[in-house]
Amino acid sequence: MKLLRLGTGGGALLLLACLAALAAPCASRSDAPRGVANPFVFDPKATCEPPCRHSGICIRNDTCFCMRGYEGETCQYANCFPKCKNGGQCLRPGKCRCPAGFGGKYCHKVTCEGGCWNGGDCIALNGAATCLCLSSWTGNQCQDAVCPQGCRNGGNCVAPGICSCPDGWVGGACHTAVCSQSCLRGGKCISPEKCRCRPPYEGPRCDKRRPHDFFLQKVKGR
Ligand SMILES: *[C@@H]1O[C@H](CO)[C@@H](O)[C@H](O)[C@H]1NC(C)=O
Repeated sequence: MKLLRLGTGGGALLLLACLAALAAPCASRSDAPRGVANPFVFDPKATCEPPCRHSGICIRNDTCFCMRGYEGETCQYANCFPKCKNGGQCLRPGKCRCPAGFGGKYCHKVTCEGGCWNGGDCIALNGAATCLCLSSWTGNQCQDAVCPQGCRNGGNCVAPGICSCPDGWVGGACHTAVCSQSCLRGGKCISPEKCRCRPPYEGPRCDKRRPHDFFLQKVKGR
């Protein structure tokens, strides 16, 4: 605006020189600034309201000629080349503000907070930094092992396919009860230290035989 108010031949010449110097780099870009059509046609008395921003020059009424790196009706938008990626906002030429989870000069780097464990990859998924886990791991950071067989009876999956079982249970899925003294006569250990006996046996280890008539009575009484 100051330049335009000089009003003298010298001022106009100076402005022309400025515009010529500015036009070359701007015209060479494919996406020309929106704020200007032809920088060489200008009116020294032109007024722009609202005023041109970021050192843009008012070349005709309400037409701003923007400095390199800015665009928009009043040169209000900064331009970043390369463009800010992943929803980053261009603050000023070459300076992107990146959304959470993204970094680097152009927000092109994805960063998962806390990292991805156990071989997981940090990727951009629907605009968010997300850990992509190997199939045997899960959780936000791939911190939880996957036990496809399941861990039953209060067991914990501590590594892929490996359950840590509570006392009294064993097996890949903690599905086998432990009876420290084995169940006899075809009895089955159904929970820790508990045998289910086959008739007519009974007792903690199924080694006692029920009286014959008691057993019969029980069968008949059903
Ligand atoms: C620019 O605007 C001013 C003030 O509104 C007006 O006097 C002038 O005639 C306009 N110039 C052109 C070229 O339209």
